[in-house]
Amino acid sequence: MSEEKDDKKAVEPEDLKIEDLPGVGPKTAEKLIDAGFTDLMALATAPVAEVASAADIGDATARKIVNEARSRLNMNFLTGIELMEKNKTMGYITTGSKELDNLLGGKGIETQSITEFFGAFGSGKTQAGLQLAVNVQLPKSQGGLDGDVVWIDTENTFRARRVEELARHRGLDPKEVLSRIHVARAFSTDHQMLLAEKIPDLIEKDKRPIKLIVVDSLTSLFRAEYVGRGTLADRQQKLNKHLHLLQRLADRYNIAVFVTNQVIARPDVFFGDPTTAAGGHVIGHGCTYRIYLRKSRGDKRIARLIDSPCLPDGECIFRVTEKGIED
Ligand code: GTP
Ligand code: MG
Repeated sequence: MSEEKDDKKAVEPEDLKIEDLPGVGPKTAEKLIDAGFTDLMALATAPVAEVASAADIGDATARKIVNEARSRLNMNFLTGIELMEKNKTMGYITTGSKELDNLLGGKGIETQSITEFFGAFGSGKTQAGLQLAVNVQLPKSQGGLDGDVVWIDTENTFRARRVEELARHRGLDPKEVLSRIHVARAFSTDHQMLLAEKIPDLIEKDKRPIKLIVVDSLTSLFRAEYVGRGTLADRQQKLNKHLHLLQRLADRYNIAVFVTNQVIARPDVFFGDPTTAAGGHVIGHGCTYRIYLRKSRGDKRIARLIDSPCLPDGECIFRVTEKGIED
């Protein structure tokens, strides 16, 4: 909690409203707020093009507004020292497997980042998410963040029973654990995006200490709704927007975001592994950490870290047992 207070301190004039920015009249303000840009931070961290289309204004005006928000919030450049301070506020959630934690840099998945697990059915993506939803509730000394969870479920695969079982194995009260997981079923891509936009309400109005957002799965509704070649650009643009929003939530509230993704067959690969993550480059650029899961013998699973900007590529083996994710 103290971390969030520190974050807020960096917001210089704390009660500045978006109407106070030059170029934002009452009408523009209303449109911006409708689109979810309710405060300076939301504007300062938004892509200019998104602000332009949301408020129905030109790119130049949008750029001016975004830049103004950034300079008011004092966030144009950070020194190395300030960056180090920001990194110090980063939190970690253990996956339950030391090996898998190590693959991710040592302590598990990280706040202010999006971690993607992709793989075929049964590879353990949902199980990993359920385990993280329990582990995030542990105290810091045990690899958690003493936080609540938002679970956006697009496939109806959230299992309360399984959560109870995992909680018991961690010595946590199953009912209490379930009461700190806020589950919403998404029925369409628009709905999925709307649910993500509602998360600030849960944090600011209801005062829930959200530390983990799970989207299981990130891509299934997008793939179901946008079929055929002609719709690909629209789908990618929307997916990109969704990922940007998730990243902004991660930064703004110091939250870890965990998303799952399916694999699709690549017709162009004849040798080696002919599968790849769905969603293409948009997800490749949008996620900080990408883990490719494969089934091995029995309850064993192979995880491979792909294209990380700051960690060496590598592989490890973990298990999905009745206790959850283990070495
Ligand atoms: P899709 O969502 O179908 O793409 O698969 P997924 O990658 O999400 O797989 P999931 O995490 O649901 O399941 C992975 C494996 O975990 C399953 O094949 C089971 O072997 C195992 N598993 C799932 N539920 C349980 C459970 O309640 N107990 C135990 N012991 N194992 C389970
Ligand atoms: Mg699943």
